[in-house]
Amino acid sequence: MKKNLYISTAIPYVNGVPHIGHAMDYLLADIWARYQRQNGKEVRFQIGTDEHGTKNAAKASELGLTPQAYVDQASQPFKAMAEKVGSSYTDFIRTTDAHHRGAVQYIWQQLAPHIYKDRYEGWYCSGCEQFYTDKEVEVNGGNCPNHKTPFERLSEENYYLRASDFTDQIRSAIETNKLRIIPEFRKKEILELIKDGVKDVSISRPRKSLSWGVGVPGDDSQVMYVWLDALSNYITVLGYPDDASWQEYWPADVQVVGKDILRFHAIIWPAILLGIGVSLPKRLLVHGFVNIGGEKISKSLGNGIDPNQIIDSYGRDAFRYFFSCHIPTTDDGDFTWEKFENAYNNELGNDLGNLVQRIAAMVTRYQAGVIGDSPQAEHDMGPYHEAMEQFRYNDAVNIAWNTVRSLNQYLESVKPWEIAKNREKDTEAAEHLSDVLAHAASTLLQVADLLTPFMPDTADTIKHSFGTGVVPADIQPLFPKIYLHTPDPRAPKAAPAQS
Ligand code: ME8
Ligand code: MG
Repeated sequence: MKKNLYISTAIPYVNGVPHIGHAMDYLLADIWARYQRQNGKEVRFQIGTDEHGTKNAAKASELGLTPQAYVDQASQPFKAMAEKVGSSYTDFIRTTDAHHRGAVQYIWQQLAPHIYKDRYEGWYCSGCEQFYTDKEVEVNGGNCPNHKTPFERLSEENYYLRASDFTDQIRSAIETNKLRIIPEFRKKEILELIKDGVKDVSISRPRKSLSWGVGVPGDDSQVMYVWLDALSNYITVLGYPDDASWQEYWPADVQVVGKDILRFHAIIWPAILLGIGVSLPKRLLVHGFVNIGGEKISKSLGNGIDPNQIIDSYGRDAFRYFFSCHIPTTDDGDFTWEKFENAYNNELGNDLGNLVQRIAAMVTRYQAGVIGDSPQAEHDMGPYHEAMEQFRYNDAVNIAWNTVRSLNQYLESVKPWEIAKNREKDTEAAEHLSDVLAHAASTLLQVADLLTPFMPDTADTIKHSFGTGVVPADIQPLFPKIYLHTPDPRAPKAAPAQS
C-alpha cells in the first residue's frame, strides 16, 4: 500500500477575491487531510492559484497593471483565505511559477503525438474559459448560462488534443470506478456526456487573442489554453517531471472540484494523463454550490459573503462546523446569517459549549479539578469511519452531536448536582459523583476525537480541559453567545410605548 496520500483542490482564477465557494474547496480537502493524518497517514495537500488566461488578463488591464504585477498581488488573498479556514495544506502552487511553466511545456512535448492543428470556428465564453458547441449556444439563447454574457464568436487556428483517442479508456475508468466520481449522480452525468465519444479539445489560442499564458513549444504564434496549463498543476506541484518523488504521491487519492468544472477533470484531465502515460487519479469529489439566501453568489447581485467576516466574528471552528454540517458535501446548500447564527448559538453554544463548561465547572467545584478514573467506554466507531470514508461529512458530525446530546440527557437524568449535596457525609455518593463526572469527561474526549478533522481548535480545547486528569483553571468558554443577526433572547423586553 502507498504510504503517502495526496489530495488536491481546484485552483481559483484570481480575477476576484475569494468567496465562500473557494473556502468550501479548502475546507472539504482539509477535513479529509486531518482525518487521514489522525489515522497515521502522511498527507500531501495542494492548493494554489490559476493565473493565466483571458479572465486574469482582462482584470489586470482593467486596473492598468501588467498581468504579472496583478496576479502577484491577487493570488495572496487566496492563500490567506486557505489559512484562515485552517487548511493544513503542504503546497501552494501558482501557475506562473517558473517550474510549473517549464513542466507544462514538457507535458506539451509528451503530448505531441496526439496533437494536431486545425481551424476553430465557433463560440467561447471567457468567463468559463471554455469553448461551446452550436447546440449549447442555441439552447442558452446566445448567452452563457453561468455568466449571463454573450458567447464570443471565434475563428482561429488552434492546436487540438486528440482526446477522442482515449474515449474507451476514459469511459471504462469511470464506469468501473477506477476513476471514481463522487457522488454517483455526477458519474452518470459524465457518462451521459461522453456517450457518443470524447471530443477533441482545443489546447491553444493564437497569441494575438491571448498573450497571457505559457508559450507553445516551437510555435511563437500560439499560447497554451489555460485549462491545459491549469490542470497540469496537480502533478507539476509534486515536482513532475524532474523530481522523481512526484511518484510517491501520484495518483491523487482525492481531487476536490466544484460541479461546474467536473467535465474538465473527468474528461480533459484524464485525456492529458493518458496522453503522457501517467495514471489517473483515484477519486474526484464533486461538491455543489453554496448559495446566499437562495441566490447564486454573484458580483452583480453584490451578495457575496466574505468568509473573513464570518470567521472574524464567530471563529474558524464555527465556520468549519456550519459548512461541513449544514451545507451538504455533494449538493448545493444555502447560507443565511440567520441560519448560521442559530446553528452557532444553539448547536455550538448550547449543546456543546455549555456542556463542556458545566462538566469542567462541576469537576472544579466538587473535586478540586481532579477527574476520577473511568473505564474507557466502548463505542462503535464503524458508522463514523464509514461516513468519513464516503465523504458524508454531515453524517460524521451528526454522530459526534448525538453523543453530545446523549451526554446532556444523561446529566439531566443523573443530576450530579443533586448527588453532590451528599458527597461530604456519604462516601458512596462521592464515589458515584466521581464516576458520573469521569464518564462525562471521557465521553467529551471521545467527542474531541470525532471532531478533530472538523473543529481542530475545539478538539484541542476539550483535550486541554479533560485530557490530563486535572481540569485547568484557565479554560475559556467555548462559543459564547453572539446575536448580530438574530434577536437576543436575553435583551430586556422593550418598554411599552409612552402615550
Ligand atoms: O474554475 N459554491 O476557478 P474558479 C461552491 N480556475 N463552490 C464554488 C462557488 C460556489 N458558489 N463558486 C465557485 C476555476 N466555486 C478554475 C479551476 S482547476 C485546475 C482550475 C468553486 O475560481 C468552483 O467550483 O472559477 C471551483 O471548484 C473553485 O471554486 C474555483 O473556481
Ligand atoms: Mg468559476
